[in-house]
Amino acid sequence: MKKIEAIIRTSKFEEVYEALTEIGVPFMSTYDVKGFGLEHGTSQVYRGATYNVGFIPRTKIELVVTEGHMDDVVSTILKVASTGKVGDGKIFIMDVQEVIRIRTGEIGELAL
Ligand SMILES: Nc1ncnc2c1ncn2[C@@H]1O[C@H](COP(=O)(O)OP(=O)(O)OP(=O)(O)O)[C@@H](O)[C@H]1O
Ligand SMILES: [Mg+2]
Repeated sequence: MKKIEAIIRTSKFEEVYEALTEIGVPFMSTYDVKGFGLEHGTSQVYRGATYNVGFIPRTKIELVVTEGHMDDVVSTILKVASTGKVGDGKIFIMDVQEVIRIRTGEIGELAL
């Protein structure tokens, strides 16, 4: 099992959520996060005004899926969350050792 953590533009969240629902993902956790990437501390011009790039609000999605579903989920996020501009976000993928459904005590993929 793999845990996928994606930090995406908040403006893309609704579209990503719908696309993941369409490919049959029945669960996810989301978080409001603030962060910075490579542009931290630099200035950017937006509509004629110069802004210092500090902590920017983003949306984080977390989901644990079977290895078989991972490629489908990752490629969907990549396709929908991308604008091609700096700040599109990042996807982190981790191994998950165990999952337990508290209600039933089921473990592993059965508990997803
Ligand atoms: N290595 C990292 N660890 C944890 N969070 C990160 C990391 N890189 C980026 N983030 C988070 O993702 C958000 C978006 O990052 P961003 O897309 O700007 O990354 P980047 O490396 O600067 O790439 P780009 O050049 O496309 O902007 C950041 O605001 C931060 O919240
Ligand atoms: Mg960046």
